[in-house]
Amino acid sequence: MNKTIKKVEKILKQAGIEEYKKEALIIVEEISGLSLEKLILLDKIEKEEEILKLAQKRADSKAPIQHLIGYTNFMGEKYIVNKDVLIPRDETEILVLEAYECIKNLKNKIDILDIGIGSGIISCALAKKLQNKEIEILGTDISFDAIRTALENVNRLNLTRKIILRKSDIFSSIRNFEKFDLIVSNPPYIPVSEKENLQKEVKDFDPHPALFANDKDGVEFYKKIIKDAPNFLKKDGFLALECGIGQSCLIKDMLQNDFKNIKITKDLSNIDRVICAQIK
Ligand SMILES: C[S@@+](CC[C@H](N)C(=O)[O-])C[C@H]1O[C@@H](n2cnc3c(N)ncnc32)[C@H](O)[C@@H]1O
Repeated sequence: MNKTIKKVEKILKQAGIEEYKKEALIIVEEISGLSLEKLILLDKIEKEEEILKLAQKRADSKAPIQHLIGYTNFMGEKYIVNKDVLIPRDETEILVLEAYECIKNLKNKIDILDIGIGSGIISCALAKKLQNKEIEILGTDISFDAIRTALENVNRLNLTRKIILRKSDIFSSIRNFEKFDLIVSNPPYIPVSEKENLQKEVKDFDPHPALFANDKDGVEFYKKIIKDAPNFLKKDGFLALECGIGQSCLIKDMLQNDFKNIKITKDLSNIDRVICAQIK
């Protein structure tokens, strides 16, 4: 193993950073500009001083590495992230893939609503996967600052003709005539009572409106989305939602009235993570 990577791992491990191996690689790749395949062939890396400085900054400040370097990777693309948006989580890839499965065979123009767009990862990843289809994605968020960041990502990925952005409190700015084939959302779902148990990186650096729901079970956003979604879905339209630990049963119950074909998908830790359903 390359000596510089080892030194970075040591700094991060001593600071109690859980994913110190993964983050060490991010830091070394970022500063050296070299890929892992090239790095492992080298004994020592140029710019070692700069690399160790960034590792120390990460260790001392506890700021997420994505904030220190200004971006993250999601499904093979780089996305700008900052204090205004949730740092994308790996699990959200499952939501994108399941949402895509729901609509991939539709023949006509596909209309999608992404509620709580944050950095824009879900909308952008869907637009990329559906690049051979005629699509229009409306991405909304209650936070204007989040929308600004999503817009930067949409611009950088050349998706301005496919994704439009609008400030909205869930459905408040969606007009009655606007109908969608898919409503997708990764809403805030951590019960606010769990705030003190969160990792410092999450509690101190992710924006709180992106994290917390105000009810005991963390399902207030699902309730609101599921109640009004039927008004905005086309015939046979789909709803795809990411959820947290222990929430899938509650959400399934909420869906029973107006939705059919309810499908729950687990993540790699065997937690029910995504729930998809079709309007009755
Ligand atoms: C968990 S984050 C998801 C961000 C992004 N979609 C992702 O998956 O990384 C939830 C997002 O919902 C937004 N949000 C919170 N309350 C909202 C509301 N009432 N209406 C619309 N968006 C809201 C937050 O600002 C945040 O960007």
